[in-house]
Amino acid sequence: MKFKEISSIVGHIPFISKENGQFLYDLIIKEKITNILELGIAHGTATCYMAAALQEQGEGKITAVDLIEVKDQFKPSAEEQLAKTGFADIATVKRMQTGYTWFLHDQIVKNTKDDICHEEYDLVIIDGPKNWTIDGAAFFFADKLLKNNGWIIFDDYNWTYSQASDRRDATDGITHRSLSKAEQETPHIKAVFELLVKQHPHYGNLIVLEEHDWVLAQKTMSADKTYNIVNQTTTKDMLGKGLKKIYRKLKTLRK
Ligand SMILES: C[S@@+](CC[C@H](N)C(=O)[O-])C[C@H]1O[C@@H](n2cnc3c(N)ncnc32)[C@H](O)[C@@H]1O
Repeated sequence: MKFKEISSIVGHIPFISKENGQFLYDLIIKEKITNILELGIAHGTATCYMAAALQEQGEGKITAVDLIEVKDQFKPSAEEQLAKTGFADIATVKRMQTGYTWFLHDQIVKNTKDDICHEEYDLVIIDGPKNWTIDGAAFFFADKLLKNNGWIIFDDYNWTYSQASDRRDATDGITHRSLSKAEQETPHIKAVFELLVKQHPHYGNLIVLEEHDWVLAQKTMSADKTYNIVNQTTTKDMLGKGLKKIYRKLKTLRK
């Protein structure tokens, strides 16, 4: 399905913007990504954008993981959106009792033979609680399952508990006031990216898409590191020239 068509069906449903939806759609097609793991799905809007790209390229599947307890909280649910768009055969939703870190445990068990964990995914998207402990662990677990040259993407690079305190007292089961001031004010995903992903020997291409609050890292298994901050000034840029610029940059970085 073309981007325009999927965007006309799900574009008004949170939480991913059309610009980031287009970025994901194009990334999948340009990088020929076929096996995707999405951690944190809410209404499944990003799942639908990615499934549309996989259908367009003629192959690929998505495993999309969230909590059992939120199934009826997000309306429409991911399952409903996938049924509506006809992508239920491309994306499988897995609902866990305690969260995606235990899903990753189960995958590592399933993929381990003779003390070696078989890597299976080309792209892992981490878009859940935005929490140092959960998402830091999820990164190390996901790394065991991510193929060489595969990509990992984090949303909410700059998000903090303190900024969310205007709207609510707790985020994904974590009560804000139970955290220290530093824990409330530090962007946890930024900490995961800067302190864990950037220093990890497997990751060579590190890209911050600043205005879109996303960070990407490519598993290159090389000691060479490049770190790029890509500024997008306007949405138009992101959809047109800017997007091309990012892909040109990604291509150069891979050489
Ligand atoms: C921002 S939403 C995801 C949005 C989605 N990726 C999109 O762009 O359309 C965050 C989701 O993470 C889920 N979540 C939070 N903590 C989780 C955990 N420990 N395990 C699994 N899912 C979790 C929430 O239930 C919520 O659905």
